[in-house]
Amino acid sequence: MTIFSVKDAPPAEKMNGSLSIHDVRKYVVGIDELVPLLDGSRRPYVNLDNAASTPTISLITEKVNDFLKWYGNVHRGTGFKSKLSSWVFEEARDIIADFVHADLSDSVVLFCKNTTEAINKLAHRFPFKRGDVVLTSVMEHHSNELPWRKVAHVVHIDVTSDGRIDEEDFQKKLAQYGSKVKLVAVSGASNVTGIINPVHTYARWAHHVGAQILVDAAQLAPHRPIDMKPKDDAEQMKHGAKGDIDYLAFSAHKMYAPFGVGVLVGRRKIFEQGDPEYVGGGTVDIVNLEDAYWTDLPDKEEAGTPDIVGAVALAQAIRVVQSIGWDAIIEHEAMLTKYALEKLEKISGVVLYGDKNPNTAAQRLGVLTFNVNDLPHALVASILSYEWGIGTRNGCFCAHPYVKCLLHVDEKEAKEMEEHILHRDRSTLPGFVRASFGIYNTTEEVDVLAEALTAIANGKFREGYLLNKERGEYYRNDVEEKFEKYFQLD
Ligand SMILES: Cc1ncc(COP(=O)(O)O)c(C=O)c1O
Repeated sequence: MTIFSVKDAPPAEKMNGSLSIHDVRKYVVGIDELVPLLDGSRRPYVNLDNAASTPTISLITEKVNDFLKWYGNVHRGTGFKSKLSSWVFEEARDIIADFVHADLSDSVVLFCKNTTEAINKLAHRFPFKRGDVVLTSVMEHHSNELPWRKVAHVVHIDVTSDGRIDEEDFQKKLAQYGSKVKLVAVSGASNVTGIINPVHTYARWAHHVGAQILVDAAQLAPHRPIDMKPKDDAEQMKHGAKGDIDYLAFSAHKMYAPFGVGVLVGRRKIFEQGDPEYVGGGTVDIVNLEDAYWTDLPDKEEAGTPDIVGAVALAQAIRVVQSIGWDAIIEHEAMLTKYALEKLEKISGVVLYGDKNPNTAAQRLGVLTFNVNDLPHALVASILSYEWGIGTRNGCFCAHPYVKCLLHVDEKEAKEMEEHILHRDRSTLPGFVRASFGIYNTTEEVDVLAEALTAIANGKFREGYLLNKERGEYYRNDVEEKFEKYFQLD
């Protein structure tokens, strides 16, 4: 009899191994919760902020609750619950490895807090020498750029005017820096434009000069299958270099499991050598008053008590995604993206950025960025929330250099803006509003967005929005959002 498993048992009673994408919405936790609007009414929240974090799904929380009955600390506990927890924690690791086709004979799955921590860990552990180059791109999220500045010479690949990685510049910089390039660090997909990068081609280019590749899959992992070890193909033979992904990072909170875990999957060799960046309980075989002898992977790299519940939640989220199937997910999200692009394009005053072609919706993620007339993006996002109950995000999305490129902000303007921000005025920060889809969003929700944007573009929104310059946010002082009415810590 199975007591608890996320691996061998059917993923969840209701999934039966196959969950229709059309049914998933009813399992989204909080999908029917009403949020307050300015006119005093309440309506179901329209969550178009999935690129930041997704809501969770009851098929995941049920599994988490089920596990909590068996929860114990991992590793050396002798009690039954501790042994069960240790076993399921390793099962979760296997499920993740399988999910991204990692070859565990030469790779390891390490649990971290999130993508940011995973990339920082790799930056800390990669054996850079003075003068070594990390080749990254202008497209990157700050989490895949700032960590490299601390440890290597960072060179940026340009982006084209439509926001794609400039492949000519990529090749040029690889040729220019040659064997000095030790790592290429690129995103699988952009959190600003939804552009999906051909990471296996980039891997071949990197390997050709003897470098390795990290793919920041924070955005890619919830929306596309990932294969860290693709089979040999003609393309590979042509370049004489493999398209394998050496390192991969992603976060569970962006794929329906907001329980605090992220992963770094990568070459064991890097982590076998040298000292872990965090040391302490769990990382050692034996300690005396002078020396510590590191234990084997993965424990060596996971100091202290790990997020066991988060690992279970991520494994179950993977089961949910697998139950729905990639074809259905891609088809549904492409349908939503196409529908939204067609609708938004027709609204006079709405300016879309990135790829606006509805016919290529299946080749990108459902991440749409736009502005409305000359209204500040922060104001538009605020109106969407206050008057329509729509959750979006605005600003630069932790990708300042990329957003400046997309908006053609010149050096002088950029410098002025920096001055403002350093003087605690964020109101001039350039940017967009971003709407991003998940597996459960509907065309009706896109209709609500389109209706709202049409009204906003026509000036049909309430007066009385106030700017908090320091935060760069618009608020109202005629409403009091009584959060404690909705949720309270006892
Ligand atoms: C492309 C990309 N990389 C990295 C991150 C950082 O992820 P986390 O906040 O989970 O560390 C994000 C978050 O939005 C992202 O979109």
